[in-house]
Amino acid sequence: MIGSFTKKGLPALLAVPLTAALGSLLAGCDDNGALMSSEDSSASSKYEFKLPAHFPEPSIPDDNLLSVEKVKLGRQLFYDRRMSINEEGSCATCHEQRKAFTDGKKLPTGPTGDVHIRNAMSLTNTIYNSRQNWANPTLADLHQQAVSVMFNEDVLELGWADNEALILDRFRFAPDYPGLFSEAYPGTDDPFTVDNVAMAVSSFVTTLISSDSDFDRAQSDGNEGAMSDAARRGKELFNSERLECFHCHGAFNFAQSVQHTGTVLETIEFKNNGLYNIEGPGPGLPLPTGNYPTGNQGLYEFTNEPFDMGKFRAPTLRNIALTAPYMHDGSMATLREVIVDHYAKGGRLIPDGPFAGNGADSPYVDTLLFGFQVTDQEVDDLLAFFDSLTDWSFVCNTEYSDPFGTIPMHERCN
Ligand code: HEC
Ligand code: HEC
Repeated sequence: MIGSFTKKGLPALLAVPLTAALGSLLAGCDDNGALMSSEDSSASSKYEFKLPAHFPEPSIPDDNLLSVEKVKLGRQLFYDRRMSINEEGSCATCHEQRKAFTDGKKLPTGPTGDVHIRNAMSLTNTIYNSRQNWANPTLADLHQQAVSVMFNEDVLELGWADNEALILDRFRFAPDYPGLFSEAYPGTDDPFTVDNVAMAVSSFVTTLISSDSDFDRAQSDGNEGAMSDAARRGKELFNSERLECFHCHGAFNFAQSVQHTGTVLETIEFKNNGLYNIEGPGPGLPLPTGNYPTGNQGLYEFTNEPFDMGKFRAPTLRNIALTAPYMHDGSMATLREVIVDHYAKGGRLIPDGPFAGNGADSPYVDTLLFGFQVTDQEVDDLLAFFDSLTDWSFVCNTEYSDPFGTIPMHERCN
């Protein structure tokens, strides 16, 4: 399993008991989390979010408050190839800004050449996720997520396990990093630690907030005209009881499992949206059908509860037009396919091959997936709505771009 807490070499901080993780309530968050200053960051400057009125304030963990200096260090590390053991790539290898921080591939190849078994996720508004990754009920924050990427061994992502000192020394002895680390972690004897690297990188990821799409302009400025007529019709369809999309991709982030300042009860939801229904009894499954491909069985891999088979987190649909291919395994190439061949049918039909089966008939598929009739015009309207969720000021934001200037921006940014 990827991102799991059972791997050798993974720091104990990831070993959150599942029940505790699932049942936890969000402790009362500071009203202005990001704006708080901490004792040991007296010399740092507060990082201020610029959010429209319809966006809640992110809740920032007390042990990793945001500072401008940490974000600056984190941005450089995010793009620095020395972050991988063989110096062949970094976080940005799989998360490119011009693709809303995905890589455009079905499955990503990491810096070490290992192929990941899941599709690289967009890094749009991840600070609002109550759980990170496609279906990991234990990854509660971005700091843990960064550590898991650094240390993952089942699929080598960055290859830090057993190489911590070697990689940290690259930064310790590089000309520009001592200043960046000491500004990010003032008053510390040795700021070159695994946790400080992960906290800086996750601070940068925290700032990747997309809130300025045409949809947002229509929403926040009351400027209805910011969305085309087609996009507005698509929005109505998306929010209709006929299509039901909004139930799982709801609210400001078009996602489930969302948290922010003011959240009282943490919501952690995983759903089976009918991608697979493999014939034959899966191991440990009481029913003869409903299986998902081994290694990608979602929440079930963590809980071994049959009814968690194929349950994944409904991710944000912001910037979705830039993040093809789709789903946890990148198995759908286009948004048209997602609407017409999948959701309209109430699940995906795979006619033959090892994964043959009709997702719509799966005993585990969510009850909201019952299929619907949709005209060509309506599909075009939905696609126009998805286009209205593309945020060019996010994709072209130079505060998020490669500080080394080697990775090209989207052509529209020039
Ligand atoms: C080998 C390609 C690869 C590299 C390198 C990589 N990622 Fe990812 N990233 C992925 C994949 C694949 C997922 C989904 C993982 C899963 O669900 O198992 C993901 C998921 C994430 C998520 C969760 C997003 C969400 O909405 O839940 C975050 C955050 C993230 N990556 C940040 C990073 C950071 C920070 C780095 C560098 C320290 C990094 N990634 C390096 C491929 C990569
Ligand atoms: C029952 C909850 C549920 C409903 C209803 C639902 N979705 Fe989803 N959606 C999910 C889940 C869960 C995933 C991830 C599934 C996976 O990867 O296995 C997903 C994935 C997606 C993706 C791919 C996201 C990505 O980053 O690859 C798109 C696009 C999408 N849904 C659009 C829609 C649309 C359009 C509708 C309405 C027609 C809809 N969804 C209705 C739960 C739902």
